[in-house]
Amino acid sequence: MTLLIVATSNPGKLREMQAHLADLGWELRLKPDELEIEETGDTFLANACLKASQVALSTGEWAIADDSGLEVDALGGAPGVYSARYGKTDSSRIERLLRELGDNQNRQAQFVCAVVLASPDGSIRAQGSGVCRGEILYTLRGSGGFGYDPIFYVPEHQLTFAEMTAELKRSVSHRGKAFQALLPQIKEIAG
Ligand code: IMP
Repeated sequence: MTLLIVATSNPGKLREMQAHLADLGWELRLKPDELEIEETGDTFLANACLKASQVALSTGEWAIADDSGLEVDALGGAPGVYSARYGKTDSSRIERLLRELGDNQNRQAQFVCAVVLASPDGSIRAQGSGVCRGEILYTLRGSGGFGYDPIFYVPEHQLTFAEMTAELKRSVSHRGKAFQALLPQIKEIAG
């Protein structure tokens, strides 16, 4: 069984990544806490590569990393790669987003995700990306998921990410789509 280090310290993300990787048969382990990687890239893909590569090199194991965030059309794509740094807590980030958007009628937005696999020498061996379009609500709805989920509404399903079952979110989300693109590449590597 191959060991795979998951390069995240976000428990919500980890849960979703574990579910996506469940039938791969690889042993997943969380990256060491003290291993902090600065996200200096200006794209999701650049940051995911940075995290996967550095975690692989420092641990000498295979590593997987995702970088993701919310892009709001009326805010010129903000918070984007700064989604995690938009406030100190999930609720302060949501509060700031709703404040900045105010009563703007254009509520269009998208979640974007890049996910990357690096081999123990730090080289990028597989990558996938995904986008999920939706709308920003005026108030929070639902209690599942994490992060910006309670204000991200998907009209096709008439639900916010926070109202979806974990299975439904997995199949429609940006992360779900990125993993759908990545998994066949990992399976090929695993043989
Ligand atoms: P990073 O990828 O660790 O830089 O952080 C991504 C940021 O976007 C965090 O603040 C997350 O809360 C947010 N985010 C990413 N994916 C999701 C999601 O599926 N739902 C809600 N928030 C998300």
